[in-house]
Amino acid sequence: MSCLGATLLLAALNGCRQEMYDQPKYKPLGKSDFFPDSRNERPLPDGTVPRGFLRADSRFYRGTSPDGKSLVTELPIVVTPRILARGRERYDIYCAPCHDRTGGGAGMVVRRGYRPPPSFHIDRLRDAPVGHFYDVVTNGFGAMPDYAAQIDVPDRWAIVAYIRALQLSQNAKLSDAPPEERARLEALPVVPPSAPRPTPPPRPFPFSESKPQDAPPHPALSPHAARGDGAPQ
Ligand code: HEC
Repeated sequence: MSCLGATLLLAALNGCRQEMYDQPKYKPLGKSDFFPDSRNERPLPDGTVPRGFLRADSRFYRGTSPDGKSLVTELPIVVTPRILARGRERYDIYCAPCHDRTGGGAGMVVRRGYRPPPSFHIDRLRDAPVGHFYDVVTNGFGAMPDYAAQIDVPDRWAIVAYIRALQLSQNAKLSDAPPEERARLEALPVVPPSAPRPTPPPRPFPFSESKPQDAPPHPALSPHAARGDGAPQ
């Protein structure tokens, strides 16, 4: 092929590329002469649902009846020992700091001055539908922030199931136990219920953990620790 031929071919190829590069197309957030609002980024049509976010099951996702008018009274999940264990773990992480591990409402944050929540063992909350607990975790309640971002939907229900178990743990009758357990329980010695421990008064903020002046430093902070022999240098 002659040199001229090759040059012409290259020029033709280049021209071809150039045409595709310059073809009419929209760039992100560009201007449009076609749409009346001059935006080439089109707004989503009303009611668009991203894949995986339909959440049509209102009992599960919102804790309400389909019309949204009443809270569910039965857990929309099957409760298994695994679910309860998961609920307990999540409860101890996210709720116990304020509600304490028994649900009495004297968690560590409260002992240090946060507004005390009601005990889960009062009649009003014993009678409250499970949907109420789900709603409180999802949307918050009064001084309590919501935990929707931290706890996903199945875990919220696992926590609610565990709270029901906590409530039963403080309010069970002998007749609630299965017959084979009853005999064993009846044979146990009767122990008078211990007096509830008083909640220590809240401490002012900021907290001052007073440390004795002559307290020895933690071994890891000692200058000898790095040498590993503890010998004076
Ligand atoms: C930072 C502290 C704090 C944490 C953590 C917390 N709560 Fe609360 N909770 C409160 C306070 C305070 C109230 C009382 C709010 C009020 O009446 O203004 C409350 C109230 C409640 C109530 C009662 C609502 C009613 O009807 O009176 C429920 C149920 C509840 N919380 C569930 C939970 C669950 C479940 C978690 C864990 C996912 C949790 N809370 C985590 C502080 C907390």
